[in-house]
Amino acid sequence: LSILALHGPNLNLLGQREPGIYGALTLAEINRLLDEEGFKLQAKVFSVQSNHEGILVDTIHAALGQHHGILINAGAYTHTSVALRDAIAGVNLPTVEVHLSNIYRREDFRHHSYIAPVAIGQISGFGGQSYLLGLQALVNHLREARL
Ligand code: DQA
Repeated sequence: LSILALHGPNLNLLGQREPGIYGALTLAEINRLLDEEGFKLQAKVFSVQSNHEGILVDTIHAALGQHHGILINAGAYTHTSVALRDAIAGVNLPTVEVHLSNIYRREDFRHHSYIAPVAIGQISGFGGQSYLLGLQALVNHLREARL
């Protein structure tokens, strides 16, 4: 299986960005953990980070025919981007939404996700673990769908 792990805006700053909320792991460390978890699950994980909404849209389009599923932390675009939601709906690839922080115990503007209605499910609040749990859930879903 081939999985696209897509990281949205400001996640390149992980490690130094509000560590009390997002933890101490850098994006490079998260990507390495995803790699290792993917290896255990026999799935290859390709990670892309962008601060640009259009590049994230292009990357989702390019996943069609290249990857079996998408793991996405859309960062702040989670709460704003109809374009990202439509891109995911458009390619129709199984998608799992993840967040480091628990978006529901934070500011009201973080409580709504445009991604959630087009995702299989969402994992929020477990720091770097959210990505690993999300990857496991996505791979399980893809394997079950093939039965
Ligand atoms: C985030 C939560 C978002 O509200 C925020 O804008 C982020 C990170 C998370 O992983 O907890 O950039 O997606």
